[in-house]
Parts: sequence; structure tokens; C-alpha cells
Amino acid sequence: MIAPSILSANFSCLGSEVAGVEKAGAKLLHIDVMDGHFVPNLTIGPLVVEALRSKTKLILDCHLMVNEPEKMIPWFAEAGADWITVHDEAASNAEMLIDQIHKLGKKAGISIKPNTPVEMIEPLLSKLDLVLVMSVEPGFGGQKFMSSALQKVRWLSKQKKEKAHSFLISIDGGINLTTIVESKLAGAEVFVAGSAIFGAKDRTQAFQQLEQAIK
Ligand code: DX5
Ligand code: ZN
Repeated sequence: MIAPSILSANFSCLGSEVAGVEKAGAKLLHIDVMDGHFVPNLTIGPLVVEALRSKTKLILDCHLMVNEPEKMIPWFAEAGADWITVHDEAASNAEMLIDQIHKLGKKAGISIKPNTPVEMIEPLLSKLDLVLVMSVEPGFGGQKFMSSALQKVRWLSKQKKEKAHSFLISIDGGINLTTIVESKLAGAEVFVAGSAIFGAKDRTQAFQQLEQAIK
């Protein structure tokens, strides 16, 4: 599954940008929430998620790059997020956050930054619906893919098979026609793509080319 990330969309016509990728065949929409503290950028709040919820049937995949995620999880759940992913680095107790998200009836994800060893989240794997491996430093779209993320994807894929876990492996940052193939070969299942889709003149074509590349 490809998850277009609206971080690179044109915010002056967000509704039609989202309708465009939905029409192109997307099932997921990746929403990057940044608080200006956990990352040096400030983006989307629950009001925008709520507005999108009323306009689209896409699964809303909210990636919370925020400190004290426990405060914001209920806001995004109420706004209509379907998947809520928080950063392991921002969590004082990641297991509690996963339980909090589940109690709100949402799918729970944990994300790790490029310098965080993937083994750190091993105790959480049985509880997770999603692991989001960052292949760039979180904060901005349009950065170069860090191949070191592929080893993490391979490790997760192995864990999944050996222990029959059910989480999805997602990769986020620098995804293009080349890196999407490398990520798929490593075992990734969800591919977040911002600038590769919304930076293209023809978003539909860009989405469909990415889809073709992993068929
Ligand atoms: C970065 C975000 C990404 C971003 C990816 O912190 O988490 O979702 O939108 O953008 P591209 O695909 O341009 O690297
Ligand atoms: Zn993201």
C-alpha cells in the first residue's frame, strides 16, 4: 500500500489534492503532525484531520512527531484518525501509549528515527498494528532516503515471520521509484510518499507509477 503524505501537498486546495489521490487509487492518507518541539517544524492539527475526515473515505494514517503524545492522542482519535503512530523517542512508556490508542478504538503504530536501533521496540511488537521506520530525519519532506533503514525493515520482517506478529511494516522518507523497490524487497508493506507524489505535476501518474514499481 502506498500512503501519499500530504506534507508536500498544496494546502491552499487540500481537499482537491486528497480527492485526487483517492481517485488515483490510494487507500491510505499519511498525515504528518509536527509540534515544533519534537521536530523543528510545525504542521497539522486535529482541525485539519477533522475537515479531511468529512471529505474522504481514505484510511487516515496520523504520524505524530510530537512530545507528550499522550496529550494529543485523544484529539486525533476524536478528529477521525484511523491509525495513530507515535515516536518511541517521545514516549516515556510506549506500551501505555499503545494501550491508550487501542482503547480509543484505533490502530496503533510506533515510529523510530534513523538513529534509534530497531531492537529497542522488540518488546512492543506483539501489541503493534504498525511499525513506521523513518528513512529520513523526521521534520521535512523532500529529503534523501537513508539506506540504513533497510536493515531495520529486514529485521522487522524476520521478526514478523518467526514470531507470527501481525504488524504492518511501513517506511517513511525519500521514497521514489528506486527506493520503493528496495524497501519492498527488504519487506516493507506500506510506503509513505510525499514529494514523489505531490511534488509531481501529474499526481495520478506519479501515484500509479509507484504502484506499478511494486507490483
Ligand atoms: C517527514 C515525514 C514524511 C514526509 C515524507 O518527517 O514523516 O512523511 O512527508 O516526505 P518525502 O516522501 O518527500 O520524503
Ligand atoms: Zn510521516
